[in-house]
Amino acid sequence: MFFDIMPKSRREDLFNYEKELSSLIEGIKRNRIIVIKGVRRVGKTSLMRVAFNSINMPKTWIDGRDALMTPFSTLVEMGCAEMVEQINIAEKVRKRIKSLSIKGLNLSLNYEISLKRLNSLLRKYKKEGVIFIDEVQLVKHADAFLSSVYDNYSNIKLVVSGSEVGILDKIIGSGDSPLAGRVVKLIEVKRLTKEKALSFLVQGFSQLNRSINFDELEDAVATFDGLIGWLTYYGYYRLEMSHEEAKKKVIELAKPILKSELLHFISSKKNKKAIMYALKAISLNYTKWTDIKSFIYSKGIKIGDSSLSSILRDLFNYGFVEKVEGRYLLADPLIKFTPIF
Ligand SMILES: Nc1ncnc2c1ncn2[C@@H]1O[C@H](COP(=O)(O)OP(=O)(O)OP(=O)(O)O)[C@@H](O)[C@H]1O
Ligand SMILES: [Mg+2]
Repeated sequence: MFFDIMPKSRREDLFNYEKELSSLIEGIKRNRIIVIKGVRRVGKTSLMRVAFNSINMPKTWIDGRDALMTPFSTLVEMGCAEMVEQINIAEKVRKRIKSLSIKGLNLSLNYEISLKRLNSLLRKYKKEGVIFIDEVQLVKHADAFLSSVYDNYSNIKLVVSGSEVGILDKIIGSGDSPLAGRVVKLIEVKRLTKEKALSFLVQGFSQLNRSINFDELEDAVATFDGLIGWLTYYGYYRLEMSHEEAKKKVIELAKPILKSELLHFISSKKNKKAIMYALKAISLNYTKWTDIKSFIYSKGIKIGDSSLSSILRDLFNYGFVEKVEGRYLLADPLIKFTPIF
């Protein structure tokens, strides 16, 4: 069912993205590191989960958000233990404490089963295992961890994903990042086209034998664009309420989410006002660099060229803005409703 609001995990519940899914499943066979990127609510976790459930290999899933509360080393340790169980090892593994040093990062790991141990067991049984890490940008020193696994544990593969597109780019390596020079397979999840978005809604309602009003669906697509996350919520609410109410409900639901994402982003920034005006300008359809600059000036903020470039780069890196043919666009149309403007 398409209008279930949890991330999808079964292939039959996944609309579209067959190409990305097979590219991911094939990619796991041939690559050591695969990165799935895309703006928020585009369906990255769903794609990853369906692939996770489709592969018949030792595997584990780490949610980067858990690393905010639990040391990442513990999450890795638990994941390794889970994979060892899947390899179905008869031999008893001794408990031991190991210490790992990854490029200046000292992890004191209480590994029941270390990555090293897991890797040698995989080799012994001629298997390969996969660690999936969702929201990898929340894991501190993720780049060092990924390059260490890549370099030292040849039977362990990694599939990682995150919404902060530019941050992911930094993690997977350009310039002096630890992963630079290693082969990384990239899979980009793009928003649905307007036609596909419409077709998603039509199929979603048909699955539930609900009648369809095309004008309403077109209006929903005009509001939520091709972001499958909001379209799913719209479908979910539309089952219980009118079109207008369902639209309003999704916008109300989106506001605090987007507000907290934005506040979190600007909390560490010096030029908060200029950032907000840049975003406001883009949301008012000032899509060209010079127009955005004039808009900010019109608000009494004398911003330099390099500062504006750095603001726009940051907004792109954190997934709030997209750049299409030299123009800046909101990555999520609902940003314009956030109450911080
Ligand atoms: N291909 C799909 N088919 C049907 N529903 C989908 C699909 N992809 C995502 N969804 C739905 O959209 C919503 C968001 O999906 P998901 O969490 O996978 O996106 P995401 O890109 O990981 O989002 P975030 O950036 O917030 O982590 C969920 O309700 C999910 O059920
Ligand atoms: Mg996700």
